[in-house]
Amino acid sequence: MTADVIDGKAFAAKIKLDVAKQVVILKEQHGIVPGLAVVLVGEDPASQVYVRNKNKSTKEAGMNSFEHRMLPDVSEAELLDLVKKLNEDPAVHGILVQLPLPKHINEAAVIDAISPDKDVDGFHVINSGLLATGGQGMVPCTPQGCIMMLKDRLGDMSGLEAVVIGRSNIVGKPVAQLLLNENCTVTMAHSRTRDLATVVGRADIVVAAVGVPELVKGSWIKDGATVIDVGVNRIEKADGKTRLIGDVEYDEAAKHASAITPVPGGVGPMTIAVLLKSTIVAACRQAGIEEPEV
Ligand code: GUN
Repeated sequence: MTADVIDGKAFAAKIKLDVAKQVVILKEQHGIVPGLAVVLVGEDPASQVYVRNKNKSTKEAGMNSFEHRMLPDVSEAELLDLVKKLNEDPAVHGILVQLPLPKHINEAAVIDAISPDKDVDGFHVINSGLLATGGQGMVPCTPQGCIMMLKDRLGDMSGLEAVVIGRSNIVGKPVAQLLLNENCTVTMAHSRTRDLATVVGRADIVVAAVGVPELVKGSWIKDGATVIDVGVNRIEKADGKTRLIGDVEYDEAAKHASAITPVPGGVGPMTIAVLLKSTIVAACRQAGIEEPEV
């Protein structure tokens, strides 16, 4: 068996196109221009790339993009003050503070200062609580992107065995919660899991979000499983150049899986597309209107 490749780039392009159409309707029919504020503290190179891409995509979708850059030694109080201003700004419908933050800033305090209605990352405890209790909060972008790709591929996922590897607040925990909401039987595996090979081997759905290059061996994958690889690991090749690889041993896994996401070009492009979609959701909820149908 050779797995189908799940094309995250094409999927994300379709979402972005729909978002751009929704923006036109919101402008024409409601006079609303959805706005996303992105806050970047410091000069982490990977974060700078993410933030640049977010701003570009936001503008391409016809939305307002508000970019706030702060020096690495900014105080927590100054950052909290900016978040407060963004909470109060009616032109800002979504707020994203790029993580990680410098060590001297309490990340949880900053996330909890963001208005839950504008928390397009879905990281606020109110939103994680709503996700856990079946409420209508803001849902984290990467996990939501994973579920959209799985649903597109599998349709009804009721009763399927899903194994999530990694227990981060950003991906592992919310993706497990979303799979549970889809009626999967969910196992959360992590660095202390015994016999990961056996745990992965029973999964119909594997979501790898652990940040360890090729931790998940291709031979572990059950024949016909669907594999979502959230890992983005930069490794050095023999010639000194670098390349990106996932958390799953791709070539070998593709011999067993029925479908698999590549790295790059799988989950990665979905995150920003879902972020734009979440900004639309936030703008509509704040205005008390339904999301435009496109
Ligand atoms: N850093 C890495 N991924 C993310 C994300 O999804 N949101 C934020 N705010 N920071 C991140």
